[in-house]
Amino acid sequence: MRWSSREDRHHEKKYFKRKKLTVVGSGNVGATAAFLAAQRELGDVVLLDVVDGIPQGKALDMYEASPILGYDVQVTGTQLYEDTAGSDLVIITAGMARKPGMSRDDLLATNVKIVADVTRKIVKHSPHCVILVVTNPLDAMVYTAKQVSGFPRERVIGMAGVLDSARMRSFIAGKLHVSISDVSAFVLGGHGDAMVPLPRYATVAGVPITEMMSEQDIQAICERTAKGGAEIVQLLKIGSAFYAPGAAVVEMATSILKDTGRILPCAAYLEGEYGVHGYYMGVPCRLGGGGLQSVVELDLTVDEQASMDASLDAVKVLVKQVDGLDIGNHFTT
Ligand code: NAI
Ligand code: 2OP
Repeated sequence: MRWSSREDRHHEKKYFKRKKLTVVGSGNVGATAAFLAAQRELGDVVLLDVVDGIPQGKALDMYEASPILGYDVQVTGTQLYEDTAGSDLVIITAGMARKPGMSRDDLLATNVKIVADVTRKIVKHSPHCVILVVTNPLDAMVYTAKQVSGFPRERVIGMAGVLDSARMRSFIAGKLHVSISDVSAFVLGGHGDAMVPLPRYATVAGVPITEMMSEQDIQAICERTAKGGAEIVQLLKIGSAFYAPGAAVVEMATSILKDTGRILPCAAYLEGEYGVHGYYMGVPCRLGGGGLQSVVELDLTVDEQASMDASLDAVKVLVKQVDGLDIGNHFTT
């Protein structure tokens, strides 16, 4: 019997329709996302990092788990952007994570250079990919990736709202002792202390929590949600959350790569929606093939819109810092 190996058949492109997913940054969030993406068989996974050996070692370890867990995709690790060529989706998790006492915003000066550099290299090798940014401070880093890539807003999206909403959902389920499967919630706005949990749009089996919980309990859940990242940092002491963030990334990646059209809260570049022009904010979006398919505009109360405006002010402060730096803007290089 003679087998023709994958390499032997490589010229027969028609056989290779599998999606390709690159994760830049093989630290806690990147490796978790890569492992979950492989388990969901979203496509072949490439892990990239600046540290020699880490992406290779983690990728090999994940590949060696595939016979046990039963997933059938390639997982490879590299330092070379050539190996990421032709990716359908690139997830950027490269950069510093916060430690106790630090806010997400304290990371800007270091991470903006990393995200700009990574974006330039990604775009060179995968000019048609969708970029999903995770690095903090999220709203400013996804803005950086958009400026540097020159991609349309459909192909540069940020992950935060899925995580923040998952935290809110888990706190609601815990408080009401109901199955997490029946709880849905939306957290909008920027991924900072001024994020905007929306109790009116949080439901248990379709019933708004405003009809099920006291105002005081709802307030406590909203506050815990807004401080959810800091709560984990305080406990871990050496870094920030990664299981829920990794899962949140893969929720978005699944909708994009499988073209399912989920409505998920994402950081999207707004062009007038919610009264915002030219900034990234967390809003409900339809995600599918090609990335952002549409922004869903909810009817907000005056108070909810005021909270969105306050959150936007916080995002503007960060974006101003990015605009003041020489990040090699696509339009100026
Ligand atoms: P980590 O420290 O575990 O991993 C970061 C990785 O990036 C390291 O392996 C590092 O070597 C790598 N890296 C640094 N510079 C690089 C470069 N130029 N090219 C390629 N790789 C590079 O950090 P963790 O926990 O994985 O977090 C990553 C980022 O994601 C942080 O900025 C963190 O704040 C952010 N984050 C954002 C969330 C969100 O909701 N948007 C949630 C959780 C984390
Ligand atoms: C979080 O919310 C660190 O942004 C990250 O956990």
